[in-house]
Amino acid sequence: MARFTLPRDIYHGKGSLDALKSLTGKKAIVVVGGGSMKRFGFLDKAVAYLKEAGLEVSLFEGVEADPSVETVMKGAEAMRKFGPDWIVAIGGGSPIDAAKAMWAFYEHPDITFDSLTVPFSFPTLRTKARFCAISSTSGTATEVTAFSVITDYHKGVKYPLADFNITPDVAIVDPALAETMPPKLTAHTGMDAITHAIEAYVSTLNCDYTDPLALHAVKMVSRYVVDSYKGDLEARARMHNAQCLAGMAFSNALLGIVHSMAHKTGAAYSGGHIVHGCANAMYLPKVIRYNSKDKIAAERYREIASFIGLPASTAAEGVDSLIAHIRKLNKSLDIPNSIKDYEGGIINEKEFLEKLPKVAELAVGDACTGSNPRSITPAVMEKLLLACYYDKEVDF
Ligand code: ATR
Repeated sequence: MARFTLPRDIYHGKGSLDALKSLTGKKAIVVVGGGSMKRFGFLDKAVAYLKEAGLEVSLFEGVEADPSVETVMKGAEAMRKFGPDWIVAIGGGSPIDAAKAMWAFYEHPDITFDSLTVPFSFPTLRTKARFCAISSTSGTATEVTAFSVITDYHKGVKYPLADFNITPDVAIVDPALAETMPPKLTAHTGMDAITHAIEAYVSTLNCDYTDPLALHAVKMVSRYVVDSYKGDLEARARMHNAQCLAGMAFSNALLGIVHSMAHKTGAAYSGGHIVHGCANAMYLPKVIRYNSKDKIAAERYREIASFIGLPASTAAEGVDSLIAHIRKLNKSLDIPNSIKDYEGGIINEKEFLEKLPKVAELAVGDACTGSNPRSITPAVMEKLLLACYYDKEVDF
């Protein structure tokens, strides 16, 4: 038996933030990031709409990018004190992901973070609160997914939490919120979205329900991401939808090792974080090449290439075209192709090589590895990570 789960309501289109007025309940806690939503006036609007709906509102502000276990615990504590029956998370992936994990600890104070890292093992939620997610970036699609990524800074490891219990009840996909994204954020989140769609399409759990969403998302991102990066607001709005479609696909088909690698390299080095979407963009061409040694995956990549109008008369040609397409998008978005060149070289080569065996082992153990179309060992993962560090061709 397979399962396909989405939020019950997805409000979309410019001005759909208005939908907050239709929530019914007594108390809402609004979880928000570091200040962008306040600065651009969206937080005040959201609070006003919730009050108009007759809800008492409390704020939990300051969720950092790549939220920590500690922030999650603080938020859950704030929720226990306030007792909301709605959790409303507004912002990029970070505050929404953090709020999803807070929700679990709010409803079940006795569970442990470790127990949540086991995929699809969450306790039942919604005995205390329902969840509304409002995305302000166009990439993670966490507003519609069963995923949350939380970082354990003591271990330097990002953990994807996955369970249909944390798929939001209501998603609001209002492109007005994405209009204020700076170009770099637009580029990184856009490449996160195309990675979601491509990984979902070749995932071992792909199905008739997820395929159309994934293919259409790849087509839309390919068509709109560069214009969106350059500031075209119509393209920006289409990207906001495209990333949501990709999210609907991957939330149900799951992902693959591009994400395993991005999770485990993201917070591992002292030079700084490797921003998630940028990591995906850099690793995707190498992973397509690696996975294409699997015949079924190669044919699936050919189907994607053909669907978006690239030369794809054979599987090999389709794979080559798709890799070239991703590299071209990266170039247009000023995204490097190697970890070595990331942010002017902040990821030190010596440290990268020292940590390689551990990072490779953790990446193989990441929750996203199980649905990758080609299996991988820690030794081969090391080679793949090296290919990503130096942008080397993959032939193994
Ligand atoms: P992601 O979706 O990639 O997970 P994030 O980690 O939530 O994004 O946010 C990354 C950065 O983008 C943050 O600095 C965030 O600012 P705040 O923490 O102050 O909210 C910023 N950001 C998110 N949405 C934005 C928007 N629409 N306009 C400008 N900045 C935004």
